[in-house]
Amino acid sequence: MTIHIGAKLGEIAETVLMPGDPMRAKWAAETFLADAVCVNRVRGMLGYTGTWNGHRVTIQGSGMGMPSLSIYANELIRDFGAKTVIRIGSAGAMQDHVQLRDIVLAMTASTLSTPSRGVFRELNFAPCADFALLSAAHRAAMAKGVRAHVGGIYSSDVFYDERPDLDEQMIRHGVLAVEMEAAELYILAARYGARALAVLTVSDHLPTGRALSPEDRETSFGAMVEIALEAAFA
Ligand code: ADE
Repeated sequence: MTIHIGAKLGEIAETVLMPGDPMRAKWAAETFLADAVCVNRVRGMLGYTGTWNGHRVTIQGSGMGMPSLSIYANELIRDFGAKTVIRIGSAGAMQDHVQLRDIVLAMTASTLSTPSRGVFRELNFAPCADFALLSAAHRAAMAKGVRAHVGGIYSSDVFYDERPDLDEQMIRHGVLAVEMEAAELYILAARYGARALAVLTVSDHLPTGRALSPEDRETSFGAMVEIALEAAFA
């Protein structure tokens, strides 16, 4: 047990999928895992362990934003021995060619700041995905005929942004999408020698203001979970 995860040692798998929303963790575990058992209920941040094609997998909610994800990812990697952590979540598209429901595989994640800022101080560390996971996820998406984009994303600290000029700079520099967690996950994985990737579904589109309906979100979320599972065990 750790401060924020009530699972016993051995109840967390080496491969962990992390949606932001704990209810999505429940849904994904019940939909994709066999013999899923709830291993965490602390603060309602649900986590489940089960198997997928015979492989043990944990699906643990991260909460929203990098400070929340940092707590769970630290405990999963340092205390429970997670070796592969894949964020599955939604993102806002920043480019015209990235459409609603498309998948974005985050090769890098730019930020203004992360909870690791104090470690790096004046240094601008470049958080990046594990290449083997990234290429396997891309292959899985291609095999499914899913539209997938590989490139940089922006991990923002805010959903309600008072600085639209930052988004404009990201768009200008070809950043594919914005979300709020991946950069810190990539940093923690680098620090502790784990593998990390963010597989994201485009739920809204900044240039047009369009957004998926709740029903569409659920369907698109399924493809993302399958891509993450296939990449983890490729
Ligand atoms: N996640 C999904 N859409 C987002 C957006 N527009 N900004 C930040 N995070 C998001």
